[in-house]
Amino acid sequence: MTSNIDSSSVVVITGASSGLGAACAVRCARKGATVVLVARREDRLREVALRVTDAGGSAVVIVADVSREAECIRVVDSVATTLGRIDLFINNAGRGNLASIENTPTEQWRSMFAVNVDSVFWLTARALPLMKKANRGHIIAISSVAGRYGHPFNAAYVAAKHAVMGFIAALRTELVGTNVHATCICPAGIITEWADATEGGSIGALYAAAIPRSRTIARERGLSMAPLTRMMSAEECADIIMSAIEGGRTNDVFTHKDTHELAVQAVQDRCTQEDAFEALWLAMRESYEQQERSG
Ligand SMILES: NC(=O)c1ccc[n+]([C@@H]2O[C@H](COP(=O)([O-])OP(=O)(O)OC[C@H]3O[C@@H](n4cnc5c(N)ncnc54)[C@H](OP(=O)(O)O)[C@@H]3O)[C@@H](O)[C@H]2O)c1
Repeated sequence: MTSNIDSSSVVVITGASSGLGAACAVRCARKGATVVLVARREDRLREVALRVTDAGGSAVVIVADVSREAECIRVVDSVATTLGRIDLFINNAGRGNLASIENTPTEQWRSMFAVNVDSVFWLTARALPLMKKANRGHIIAISSVAGRYGHPFNAAYVAAKHAVMGFIAALRTELVGTNVHATCICPAGIITEWADATEGGSIGALYAAAIPRSRTIARERGLSMAPLTRMMSAEECADIIMSAIEGGRTNDVFTHKDTHELAVQAVQDRCTQEDAFEALWLAMRESYEQQERSG
């Protein structure tokens, strides 16, 4: 079964005010769909809405904070009442964090779970009856390679993205035999606002400092270099996601080259996967400790 998007389709995208969500919105608009754009920054949503109409779609803006259950319920109920159907639900809203485990405040831990995974549960649970009744539709959750393997200094995000993958895996088993599909997307680096919008400080800056340093560490200690993937544009990543959606029922999608193999390795043989990244993790520790010392 395929999930074709056309001019009769209603697509809901959370986190549509920038980055990957905005790029997916424009791609759905090119097929003539009605695209419901959800996020907190209304000005940015209005800009994306213009791009959606320019691309040939219709835009509906809903300003909402999806880290709150009542807001998630409001979003789905509003779509159900005004548009009456949901063909594609892209759970894309997400935010990372920067903190060692011992320095992660409980509020930061909870906010990572609220925006990255609780929102997916609340929105899906509310949208499912409508989609099951129509026996049609596709639920997408944007997890991350961090949903399959570990990264230092953002454990709350890593744990939340792992939870997203578990949730979608369970959802799929409840959808067996129906024409409603669910897919987890696992990107690696995408050039968006994400890396600098992380709660607790910029994880992008930490990687920027650690990657060159990891080369020296690898040379000095005879370690291998981390198998880093190429950063991707949001547009490139959105193209991969749209192809997966149009393919209908799919496995988890790893958008970046070789990351699927690393994820399998992490699940089956975590030590080997950790060894492959050792120089980078050591360099990140150095950079993180330096940042802490300089306050
Ligand atoms: N960039 C990467 O390297 C990367 C890699 C792997 C996975 N991902 C995942 O990809 C997804 C998209 O991120 P991106 O890279 O496109 O970053 P981005 O440009 O920062 O976009 C994040 C989006 O999430 C929205 N958002 C954040 N908190 C929200 C909340 N409480 N309620 C509603 N919307 C909220 C933001 O909108 P407002 O601020 O307007 O609310 C924004 O539209 C995220 O789930 C991210 O974790 C990104």
